[in-house]
Amino acid sequence: MKILITGATSGIGRQLALDYHTEGHEVWALGRNAEALEELSAKGLRTGQVDLTDRAACLDWFSTLESIDLAILNAGTCEYVDLPVFDSSLIQRVMRANVETVAISIEAVLPLLRKSSNAHLAVVGSSAAFVPLPRAEAYGASKAAIAYMVDTLRIDLKNEDIVVSLICPGFVKTPLTDLNDFPMPFRITTDEASMAIRKGLKKKKAQIHFPKKFTILLKILSFLPGPLWTILAKRMVKQ
Ligand SMILES: NC(=O)c1ccc[n+]([C@@H]2O[C@H](COP(=O)([O-])OP(=O)(O)OC[C@H]3O[C@@H](n4cnc5c(N)ncnc54)[C@H](OP(=O)(O)O)[C@@H]3O)[C@@H](O)[C@H]2O)c1
Repeated sequence: MKILITGATSGIGRQLALDYHTEGHEVWALGRNAEALEELSAKGLRTGQVDLTDRAACLDWFSTLESIDLAILNAGTCEYVDLPVFDSSLIQRVMRANVETVAISIEAVLPLLRKSSNAHLAVVGSSAAFVPLPRAEAYGASKAAIAYMVDTLRIDLKNEDIVVSLICPGFVKTPLTDLNDFPMPFRITTDEASMAIRKGLKKKKAQIHFPKKFTILLKILSFLPGPLWTILAKRMVKQ
């Protein structure tokens, strides 16, 4: 398969790129970090240095490819809101890095997927979007937007042979979560995350969520009446 992975210079995306390469697939690994891209290139992966917030540059770069069978749109970031300051520029940054990059990547990769007889589009959201979590006004909202975008696209692509998957990880140990200053229950390694994602994609699942102990608990909590969940979630907020 020809596989394209965004955010492949670090964390979950890097592990996926290496694992798919080891499995013998042709992997296009995308990111901005030149040194990390060189490392991947030395291991035999194909690489592309693209800032996914730059629509023109992104469309330009993708147009140089012929076709893609599996696109995993994984690039993203996380920043938390710290009241009493509600910094709208933080919200803008996170929406740009998470939602706009996914929209731009979808626009760029769809024509390439349409040239495949076995097309699969996968986007990395987050289990954080299952319930409103403290300090996640920006991150959670961006991942909820991604979930809506992906689930809607699946409906609108019904007349085309393109499988659409939403990937919702719990906590995974990466440079992103190494910055977190709060307990991260059931945090798993990038190896485990890559295995869960590849297994789910092989089965062409509409939603891939893991680790199950954490994500199923969140899904159950999401059925609680709003006011009850709010009381519980308020207890998580540091005084
Ligand atoms: N780790 C977790 O616990 C967790 C949980 C749920 C969801 N997720 C999601 O999983 C994805 C990967 O997270 P991670 O933990 O592996 O993070 P990470 O190690 O920080 O990797 C993020 C990747 O995104 C790329 N990226 C960010 N902005 C970009 C841009 N404008 N253009 C191109 N590339 C860009 C980075 O590339 P450069 O460094 O080269 O710029 C890097 O390769 C994210 O979407 C994240 O929200 C992670």
